[in-house]
Amino acid sequence: MTYVLIGCGNLGEIILNGFYLKKKKISVVEKNDKIKSKISSKYKRIKTFNNFKEINWSEIRYIMICVKPKDCKKILNEIKEFQLDKHIFVSFVAGLSTSGIKKCLGSKSKIVRIMPNIFISSNNSATAVYMMGFEKKLKTKILKDFRHFGILVEVNQEKKIDFFTAMFGGGPAYIFFILEIFNEIIKNNGFSEKESILLLTSLVEGVEKRIKENSFNFKLSINQVASKGGTTEEALKFFSNKNLLSSIINKAIKAATLKSVKISKDLDKLF
Ligand SMILES: NC(=O)c1ccc[n+]([C@@H]2O[C@H](COP(=O)([O-])OP(=O)(O)OC[C@H]3O[C@@H](n4cnc5c(N)ncnc54)[C@H](OP(=O)(O)O)[C@@H]3O)[C@@H](O)[C@H]2O)c1
Repeated sequence: MTYVLIGCGNLGEIILNGFYLKKKKISVVEKNDKIKSKISSKYKRIKTFNNFKEINWSEIRYIMICVKPKDCKKILNEIKEFQLDKHIFVSFVAGLSTSGIKKCLGSKSKIVRIMPNIFISSNNSATAVYMMGFEKKLKTKILKDFRHFGILVEVNQEKKIDFFTAMFGGGPAYIFFILEIFNEIIKNNGFSEKESILLLTSLVEGVEKRIKENSFNFKLSINQVASKGGTTEEALKFFSNKNLLSSIINKAIKAATLKSVKISKDLDKLF
């Protein structure tokens, strides 16, 4: 067994699913009995544990922590007793800093912070990884061991995780939010919910393909749709008017980033 996942709630199950689909060796520690029995019946090959004493730590390389911030300190203090100096701790906990974790586990502990989004199961998660004080060879190995998440970007400053959380952690929700606005507009113009969803899904799939065909040049893609004096240009004039939309989006991402910074500061006080 190579990976152990502590906490298998909303994000934990997405992570588990990603490892499970790739047939990687993973076990789960989950204190919630309901979730534990769900995991056991849904993922037949997966071992689940109630507490850390049941684990054979010599079989484990990565200890992944995916619980709510309030539960972290207790878990880290419990784990400390097992003196797992050779293990790599991978924290998915938004806002929990490397220094906070080291305060519990000791300064020599190996900590990786990782910020994925919900697209792990389809290998499409835009994921930030922060690894402080690791040798290059080990960093490469870690990135390889989590490559099935999707696109992994190593960030060299921990504070970049705050922006990443705001931009890509929340990213799927922003796109869904915009699609929901379109959905309402389409329905208000006489189409059924079913038709609207099908049309929007096809639109998103088409966009994905075109982005790749145009070598990720967004402006070129826009220009291919918006011919001079045409209808699309008329709508785009509204979108770009006084940069209002751009300004709203910038402000939204900034607000989410600042929220992440605040959560992090508040959490640091507890460690
Ligand atoms: N949700 C997201 O999209 C997302 C994205 C990025 C990062 N994150 C981070 O991921 C972490 C988990 O978020 P979540 O939404 O998945 O939380 P969650 O649904 O509450 O899942 C955490 C699970 O861990 C269990 N747990 C608590 N203490 C435990 C312990 N000592 N041993 C074993 N299991 C324990 C909880 O059980 P109880 O319910 O009984 O306490 C719960 O089932 C958070 O720190 C969050 O910042 C989440």
